[in-house]
Amino acid sequence: MEEKRKAAVSAVGLVKDGDIVGLGTGSTARYAILELGKKIEKEELDILGIPTSKATEALAKKCGIPLTTLQEYEVIDIDIDGADQVDSDLNLIKGGGGAHTREKIVASCSKRLVIIVDDSKLVKKLNIPVPVEVLPFSWKPTASKIKELGANPIIRQTDDNREYITDNKNFILDCDFGLIKDPRKLEKELNEVIGVIENGIFAGFTCEVHVGSKKGVNILK
Ligand code: 5RP
Repeated sequence: MEEKRKAAVSAVGLVKDGDIVGLGTGSTARYAILELGKKIEKEELDILGIPTSKATEALAKKCGIPLTTLQEYEVIDIDIDGADQVDSDLNLIKGGGGAHTREKIVASCSKRLVIIVDDSKLVKKLNIPVPVEVLPFSWKPTASKIKELGANPIIRQTDDNREYITDNKNFILDCDFGLIKDPRKLEKELNEVIGVIENGIFAGFTCEVHVGSKKGVNILK
């Protein structure tokens, strides 16, 4: 936990007065939101946040971070978000918290993308299941088509065995492809499957990754 917090504090240090800030989702992004709330109060900053999930929106409000939308600001100065895995080329897998569609949109609107992780998330090649947000209407045929790409999709469920529903009112298929040799290709192929809204591979984004460890924070670019 301390490693995640260190990465978050390092990223929030980059936020400047007047910035529009993308607010990520998850336990690491949570530390960033808490820290940003404190920074706004202490330094009397004029900042607006754009949350990537309903949970983040609620937390940001609690922390006193004024919020806005992509309709009011189409360009974000800095986006701070977590990741489930980061490879040696800084490709990411996101969506452990089911928020990757909004997260990818916010990242794509951002001038600076800062990813915050602890060092357990770093790998040479991406290899965990890829979260894929799909339309509930056709999730089974969509899952069958994803199977043809080489995964065995599993529909994400809640603790009480219901389908997990995203903030966009869709389902998530967790798709295990084993070791992902070409993340950019797989990201495109998945998004071409009918019924797919967005998948959790973030390939080819220009980002910097703040990695918290016992020793401190290392920044990968
Ligand atoms: C949510 C995400 C999160 O950023 C990702 O799951 C990492 O979460 P955590 O910081 O809790 O490990 O993509 O959709």
